[in-house]
Amino acid sequence: MTTHRTELVQRKDAEALAAHARAVVLERARAALAERGAFRLALAGGSTPRTLYRMLATAQADFARWHVYFGDERAVPPEHADSNYRMAHEAWLGAGQVPGAQVHRMRGELGAGSAAAQYERELVESFGSREVPRFDLVLLGMGEDGHTASLFPGTTALVETRLFVASTWVEKLSSNRITLTLRTLNAARQALFLVAGADKARALREVLHAREDGPRLPAALVRPWEGELTWLVDSAAASALAHG
Ligand code: 6PG
Repeated sequence: MTTHRTELVQRKDAEALAAHARAVVLERARAALAERGAFRLALAGGSTPRTLYRMLATAQADFARWHVYFGDERAVPPEHADSNYRMAHEAWLGAGQVPGAQVHRMRGELGAGSAAAQYERELVESFGSREVPRFDLVLLGMGEDGHTASLFPGTTALVETRLFVASTWVEKLSSNRITLTLRTLNAARQALFLVAGADKARALREVLHAREDGPRLPAALVRPWEGELTWLVDSAAASALAHG
């Protein structure tokens, strides 16, 4: 049984969506710093969050107490064009507001299996606990097939219940990936999905209308046990919803 609160927020376009996401990130950070003295944020990859990351590069916040992690990564080095770290570094982290030692990169260059094992150890050390890490905020995107992070339909990582981080082969992409598992995502205080574009409309409808007892796409399985679940979508992505 989860006790999460689900919220659907619609904004007119990707720019307005990013501006709302910026406000959520900064508010969640302020609350975390006030309550726990640190803000632990996991970033989404892909292209949707790029505008948000660029907005954070010019934001004012107590970044010295932020810890930035990644929700998933491709099994590539940080300078590779496919690297989620590279995208976030170019759009935001390269601005240097967050101390380098507090940016926790998934080391894709090690190969997916070794990188996942190394990140599991890094989470334990960084959170100072062997309990499942509770991120203050996890940013997530969603693919047209309903995947999120690198939790793709039919993959082994999707059914991992013990590890915090898993490696996974994604047949449809012929790609090895590293990803936080559902166990970790659902331990978050807040999961914030950023979904923009008409190509996501069908999957979004399927995810938001998923029945409790029916098959669910990976993104529909993200339901923080004791946290908030926020779907932040633009009008194009919401176009297949009843009210969209
Ligand atoms: C990745 C992402 C992935 C992404 C979705 C949506 O590594 O690709 O973590 O889960 O969030 O594929 O990607 P877009 O934002 O580019 O549509």
